[in-house]
Amino acid sequence: MSLNIVILAAGQGKRMNSALPKVLHPLAGRPLLAHVIATARALHPERIVVVDGHGGDAVRAATQGSDLQFARQEPQLGTGHAVMQALPALAEIVTVGQADLTLVLYGDVPLTRPASLQALIAAASAQHALGILTVHLPDPTGYGRIVREAGQVTRIVEHKDASAAERAIVEVNTGIMAIPTGHLAGWLGRLSNGNAQGEYYLTDIVAMAVADGVPVIATQPGAVWETLGVNSKIQLAELERVAQRNTADALLEQGTTLADPARIDVRGMLSCGRDVSIDVGCVFEGDVVLGNDIVIGPNCVLKNVHVRAGTVINAFSHIEDAEIGAFCRIGPYARIRPGTVLDEHVHIGNFVETKNAQIGAGSKANHLSYVGDSTVGKSVNIGAGTITCNYDGVNKHRTVIEDGVFVGSDSTLVAPVTLRAGAYIGAGSTITREAPAGKLTLTRAKQATIDAWKPPVKKPKDEPKT
Ligand code: UD1
Ligand code: CA
Repeated sequence: MSLNIVILAAGQGKRMNSALPKVLHPLAGRPLLAHVIATARALHPERIVVVDGHGGDAVRAATQGSDLQFARQEPQLGTGHAVMQALPALAEIVTVGQADLTLVLYGDVPLTRPASLQALIAAASAQHALGILTVHLPDPTGYGRIVREAGQVTRIVEHKDASAAERAIVEVNTGIMAIPTGHLAGWLGRLSNGNAQGEYYLTDIVAMAVADGVPVIATQPGAVWETLGVNSKIQLAELERVAQRNTADALLEQGTTLADPARIDVRGMLSCGRDVSIDVGCVFEGDVVLGNDIVIGPNCVLKNVHVRAGTVINAFSHIEDAEIGAFCRIGPYARIRPGTVLDEHVHIGNFVETKNAQIGAGSKANHLSYVGDSTVGKSVNIGAGTITCNYDGVNKHRTVIEDGVFVGSDSTLVAPVTLRAGAYIGAGSTITREAPAGKLTLTRAKQATIDAWKPPVKKPKDEPKT
């Protein structure tokens, strides 16, 4: 059986009230269309054709993949017209086998599970049938209704064309169909737009199949949310919650502890080792990998981060494009910026910012420091308020701090500068030249006390003028 997949993505999405094409709005950190393409790929089709229209150039620019073909639909004259535009890309359709299928998906229906589509495809393919994915809705308003006679599907009638009796039908067309490829061009060629909306309805091929003696079958997905589409920001927000809950359930399933599965957001891929615990309000973006025995405190943001086993990240820490070693202690209120690489047993405390800094095993910057463009050795102690002055207004320069250095509080290290192994920097120093190994280096004005000093006295006020 050879499978084509056509993804309809030409619609405007007026109700989104946005300049961004509807199918590019993000859900769980990825465009709606990217979810549908990932689902399509999971079915290992022969080819995938994306039908674009509104914002089509932006859609193509944002949608990568050598396995994708695109067809432009302009103007948009209905779902049947949309699939017609894909026909030239569906090569060799005259020589297809009887079981070959073309699956139609919608670019704005992001959460369909591959298993539900596999069941539809298997049923349609086994019976050489036209397969429709249907659901039963308590309120079917707006949807195409599945009309059955003696239990057999005979046609689909759109809401706007339906009689009162037909509108009472609660089994609806989700829009997802598996069509015998050999019949596709013939049926599409016979569509007309003589209906309430003046559109070429893909749904009209159901009655054609029945007339041609092709069986029509319907299967149902595992859950109704798999078939919900996005037409508004409200629907987008609802499906975002569904997607997040699914991710949270999958994490719980594989043993991750979540303080509240309703208060974690994964906008990308989060992979967790054994015995990982995540408190409320955390956001994970891009690719985040957490090793074993990791604790993430409340309200942390991690984007493209790899954290090794045994590390604790305390509340309100923000970490981006960084590698955190084993048994580190981060935060609360730490900001770890791109290019930071921490070895094991490193402590980065409150209000410490690091950027493009490699910090060796057992080193500590516990309070109120900026460590940027720096190479820091092992067992270094960076005192409170230490600043690496990496920027001269034009260029960035490196600070090198070798093993075992002790930097006293409130020191400024003016890069480029090197502190040799075991150097000891007196508190409050401004270091502009190399500090030699194993010695105390400091820059400090002598402390003085002025014996003759008197506290200022308040001047008498001028008499008010009368
Ligand atoms: C369609 C179905 C209806 C079904 C409903 C499920 C038809 C005629 N009707 O109705 O039976 O219950 O979906 O949501 O098929 N699109 C294009 N080009 C077009 C028109 C639509 O690419 O010319 C795309 C849209 O971007 C969207 C999808 O097709 O992703 C469905 O279009 P929409 O207008 O929402 O279809 P409905 O009229 O709601
Ligand atoms: Ca719709």
